Amino acid sequence: METNFVRIFEIFKQHFPENPSMFFSPGRLNFIGEHIDYNDGFVLPAAINKGIWFAIQKNNHNTIHCIAADLNEVLLIQVNEIKKQQGWHNYILGVLHVLAEKHIEIKGFNCVFGGNLPQGAGLSSSAAIEAGLLFALNEVFQLKLDLLQLALLAQSAEHSFPGVQCGIMDMFANLFGKTNNAIWLDCVSLQHRTVPLYLDAYTIAIINSKVHHNLASSEYNKRRLECNEGLQLLTSLDKKFNSFRYIMPSDVITHQFILPATIYKRCLFVTEEIKRVKKAVELLDHKNVEAFGKLLFETHEGLKNLYEVSCPEIDFLVNEAKNYPQVVGARLMGGGFGGSVICIVQKNVASTIINAIISKYQQQFNINAEAYFVQPVNGTHEILSTSIS
Ligand code: GLA
Repeated sequence: METNFVRIFEIFKQHFPENPSMFFSPGRLNFIGEHIDYNDGFVLPAAINKGIWFAIQKNNHNTIHCIAADLNEVLLIQVNEIKKQQGWHNYILGVLHVLAEKHIEIKGFNCVFGGNLPQGAGLSSSAAIEAGLLFALNEVFQLKLDLLQLALLAQSAEHSFPGVQCGIMDMFANLFGKTNNAIWLDCVSLQHRTVPLYLDAYTIAIINSKVHHNLASSEYNKRRLECNEGLQLLTSLDKKFNSFRYIMPSDVITHQFILPATIYKRCLFVTEEIKRVKKAVELLDHKNVEAFGKLLFETHEGLKNLYEVSCPEIDFLVNEAKNYPQVVGARLMGGGFGGSVICIVQKNVASTIINAIISKYQQQFNINAEAYFVQPVNGTHEILSTSIS
């Protein structure tokens, strides 16, 4: 049994009289399809074996008492007193707010959560809290919501008090993840399928740069607005350009005269990235990991030069990774301005190479990056009591 799981269970038992229900809510990686979940694109994320455990139970009064075990901080409120606050409180309060808005009634509950998912590392710790809590409340209060409804509610929760106008990818991966698979998701229809990962001789390493620039959420929302502006300008030229998925990179180049320089770069990235995801899924289906990896390097170039969401620390890590032929692909992952780099690297030399990259990074920036070798796992689920005792 994972130490984190036991720790969360025990902290709950120290504070509350009830027996908790236990849940695991994973973080996510994204192989490819960055910043296009909110641009009518396709994405290829997976839930990972790092995440957040929840111990939770109804308490038969109207108080909500949540303990963030890793921070040793408490949120204590009444069910009818849901207002925006600061920091992690807003992830919980955002969930409660959207439930109230939809008239989905819950009563008081006690909750302890914590785990091994670093914050600000581009691994979606916020979605893991929001979707995980929603999943848990759905079970505990028998709300009878399905996974898709939970994903959409979690997305609205992030839009509400935390104020990041995120796409659906993180919540979707968190809830729909499948062991050893990536999830291909059409972000318009929300159709999805599992994509088996035959990585064989390769493994997935995540390097957490330990850098998180403050502009992340404001710049994220700005990118959304820039893309909307680009789409409007292109649609004004030709109605068939009413979604990025119907616009080719060559269309953006042909019509660049109508686009301000920055907007042009954003639109070019989005259309290229949509194309890359289609190609990436074909390559994975054909077990061509090497060609798949090359697309990750291409995505990084686009995120750096066109979408402008990278930073010197992340670029350094990707450039270092490029020096090794055994790293078939590497790129910035997640919203950007810090966070993590995903590397697909040959298994037998993975630790040596990743340690060498981290040590160069330490020399350059005096920051101790961390690496995690992760595997795709099932989405948020209850851990049944038979496995607790
Ligand atoms: C964040 C958002 C996602 C997605 C990524 C970038 O993780 O929450 O919706 O847009 O950034 O791909």
